[in-house]
Amino acid sequence: MKSLSKALLAAAIIATPVAAHGEEELAPPVAFRHQGMQIVVNSAMGAMTVLKGEAGADENLVPLAEALVAGAKVSQSAFKVDTRTVHGKGEAKDQIWAEWDKFSAAMDGFVADTEAFLAAAKTGDKSASMAALGKTFKNCKSCHDVYKEK
Ligand code: HEC
Repeated sequence: MKSLSKALLAAAIIATPVAAHGEEELAPPVAFRHQGMQIVVNSAMGAMTVLKGEAGADENLVPLAEALVAGAKVSQSAFKVDTRTVHGKGEAKDQIWAEWDKFSAAMDGFVADTEAFLAAAKTGDKSASMAALGKTFKNCKSCHDVYKEK
């Protein structure tokens, strides 16, 4: 009984990100893109929590900033796969690939901002880190507003 519920729990954990998007299952390249964005959101939120002093410890900041850079780079790479004609394409708008140079420039800017945040975090200067993280967060909304379905 116990192992059955454990198996169900494991299945639920694995199934949730895919099922959460409703009727259709995400194609693997889309699910992978989401995994990249999940690294981004979790590391960015974690870094904010540490900087605000709400939880965690200062020693977590650099590892979280490194994870954020990694998540941004994984996402940047993942979007190279054009999924316009793929079944189960998530919330990415076709416009991404229709105007790839523009989207790509937005991604380059995002990666650069995460790298600047990592550099600030490494200095141990909290107000500079907060400013750099704030700048990084601006990328989320400006890109989502244009390229992500609501
Ligand atoms: C240059 C564009 C761009 C930037 C910058 C960007 N995103 Fe995204 N994000 C997208 C797109 C497009 C999608 C939809 C992807 C899809 O459905 O395949 C998305 C999806 C997501 C998702 C949903 C993932 C899922 O599992 O459903 C989250 C969460 C997210 N982004 C968080 C963030 C956060 C937080 C930031 C900033 C720290 C950020 N994004 C920066 C373009 C961007």
